[in-house]
Amino acid sequence: MGTVEDLKTAFAGESQANRRYLAFAKKAEQDGFKQVAKLFRAAAHAETVHALNHLKALGEVKETAENLKAAVSGETFEFTNMYPGMIKRAEEEGNEAAKTSFNNANHVEKIHADLYKKALDAISSGKDVETNDIYVCQICGNTVEGGAPEKCPICGFPKSSFNKVE
Ligand code: FE2
Ligand code: FE2
Ligand code: FE2
Repeated sequence: MGTVEDLKTAFAGESQANRRYLAFAKKAEQDGFKQVAKLFRAAAHAETVHALNHLKALGEVKETAENLKAAVSGETFEFTNMYPGMIKRAEEEGNEAAKTSFNNANHVEKIHADLYKKALDAISSGKDVETNDIYVCQICGNTVEGGAPEKCPICGFPKSSFNKVE
């Protein structure tokens, strides 16, 4: 284990802590503990700072074209390899929550790969990808350009489950 491995471990840990604290903050908010929620959000923000510093120290933030290629390959690995295996195992084990969660992500990663490819094509001809509103479904993560659909084609929830990305 060298420092490069340590940075990868620390990046993974800090990234997870960020999402865990945001989930805890949401729960604290629902339970009426506003200040605890704020504390979780503050620590979550700090963990993001740590995670990004580790990633930079790893040298994994490159030029945008390189970053888009890395993003395409990460998303492609997930929907062609990682999630299909996980979905199969969740089915075998009868874990419905895991199966739904994996299935939703699997569908969306394919969409992400396509959006990133389109952006990479644009960047490669020297321009930014065309301007479009982007909406994300808060139930399944479905990522849609243009406008939010009446009903999410992945999870079936209504239009109101979509948030516009600023
Ligand atoms: Fe931290
Ligand atoms: Fe993704
Ligand atoms: Fe959805």
